[in-house]
Amino acid sequence: MKILSAEFVISAPGPKQFPIDRKPQIAFAGRSNVGKSSLINALLHRKSLVKTSATPGKTQLINFFIINGSFYFVDLPGYGYARVPHAVTDAWAPMIEGYVKDAPQLRAVVMLIDSRRSPDERDKRLIEWLRHYEVPAVYVLTKADKLSRQETVRAQREIASALGLDTPPILTSATSGLGMKELWGEISRQLDK
Ligand code: GTP
Ligand code: MG
Repeated sequence: MKILSAEFVISAPGPKQFPIDRKPQIAFAGRSNVGKSSLINALLHRKSLVKTSATPGKTQLINFFIINGSFYFVDLPGYGYARVPHAVTDAWAPMIEGYVKDAPQLRAVVMLIDSRRSPDERDKRLIEWLRHYEVPAVYVLTKADKLSRQETVRAQREIASALGLDTPPILTSATSGLGMKELWGEISRQLDK
């Protein structure tokens, strides 16, 4: 995919602020600090279109970016960060479920899992919603640069088995660019459907 333009559109606290045009959306979801914002920047070859941080839990709104004027990337709030106040963590479930169940333009959710961790309860809950609402999921392991080749093979196998996936998750690194081509291939496939 050739990126001609990528622009921030809105940080939406809820459905009232979501874009209302019919352009397709690809959302990115996962735990706080898993590398969502970094992955989006890497896919778009932008250093800082999406804010990344060493302090997890920063993104608590649903952020929309318009790509090539024709489709949206949607950065969903991260979950599972202990230091985020309870009022914020309680808002997470209805916010995300509300988005996935009621987004007719949502073509797929890119589900990010840290290649060094096991999927947790919230990852599993989100995956259940996607299956329930029949939203296609694209599974991605992040930060592969932090593992040896052998460890990445094991992580792919173990996480695929923990989540009951038929195909291994895509191995990525926002730092090295590993997996970006493969992930774009999958995103394009979902957009063309
Ligand atoms: P929240 O918005 O807080 O939910 O986090 P996020 O999922 O958007 O994570 P973010 O992209 O901000 O990255 C979190 C931290 O992980 C930052 O310090 C990044 O530099 C680091 N990071 C992200 N991707 C990679 C990667 O591929 N490799 C390495 N080594 N570090 C990464
Ligand atoms: Mg983020």
